[in-house]
Amino acid sequence: MSADAPAPDASGLRKRIDTTKAHPARVYDVFLGGKDNYPADREAAAMALAANPRGYLTVRHNRDFMRRAVTLAAKDGVRQFLDIGTGLPTQQNVHQIAQAIAPDARVVYVDNDPVVLVHAQALLTSGPEGRTDYIEADLREPGKILEAARRSLDFDRPVTLVLAAVLHFIEDDTAYPVVRQLVDSLAPGSVVVLSNVSADLNTEQVGSITKGFKERGFAMVRRSYAQMERFVTDNGLELLDPGIVPVHRWRPEQVTDLPEARNPDPEFVAGLDELDRTRYQDINDVTDADVSVYGLVARKH
Ligand SMILES: C[S@@+](CC[C@H](N)C(=O)[O-])C[C@H]1O[C@@H](n2cnc3c(N)ncnc32)[C@H](O)[C@@H]1O
Repeated sequence: MSADAPAPDASGLRKRIDTTKAHPARVYDVFLGGKDNYPADREAAAMALAANPRGYLTVRHNRDFMRRAVTLAAKDGVRQFLDIGTGLPTQQNVHQIAQAIAPDARVVYVDNDPVVLVHAQALLTSGPEGRTDYIEADLREPGKILEAARRSLDFDRPVTLVLAAVLHFIEDDTAYPVVRQLVDSLAPGSVVVLSNVSADLNTEQVGSITKGFKERGFAMVRRSYAQMERFVTDNGLELLDPGIVPVHRWRPEQVTDLPEARNPDPEFVAGLDELDRTRYQDINDVTDADVSVYGLVARKH
């Protein structure tokens, strides 16, 4: 779907969306201050908050890790971005981040969820020099994604492949071949941005969250440092500094925060419920024990 394409049939799409069940994109969005969530999503988010009271900082740091990595790639001259597992539009999406540096940047968003498609129009707001497109597709079908992405991206030139907080929805036997096929299609100079819930960090609390999510219908594959490393070594990528680290440790000097968290009014925040209060928490008030997602950025030669 491109900006000039007709908007998707919202009523048809909405029929495909079950708002009575928690949904990964919407639960994640609760912690980013999004408005497109339902009681079932807030219930799942509240479960996660109870199991790991400061774990929401991981969500905010994961999103900011993605922002920092995309910024780096754009500053390095990469002008094309393929963001698979886009999530709901939020305050800073890949095209806004990249086009702030390079107005001619082209971005293709991919998600398999009708919830995201309903909101995709908000992702198609490129400036006149750039371009954004949206593909409804599953990461498990990389051939289909590549074929559709070729309509707007030139795979003879570098592309930044963004796989942020999405591979943990895919089992190993599929995840490694999928990443192999995607990376194989990239030109030298391309950049891979990847994050995944960790199997090594904050294990007890993350274990109870993933159990709670599974009971609500979505499973997550936690990956160890060694499993993360395989995405790099299997594909002959060069890991950029500082390597595979908890997301808040990836170039932390460039962390930024949600605007509302910068100077919150304490009286206003005190009147909010526990869940809403989380977005006014200072993102820098984080410890290693809070964060449970690994991030890495690697380059193809
Ligand atoms: C936790 S959100 C991450 C959003 C964003 N990438 C970020 O890091 O801020 C995960 C997104 O991946 C999408 N997703 C999950 N499994 C997928 C699959 N098999 N194919 C495509 N998208 C998928 C979900 O619909 C959701 O929008």
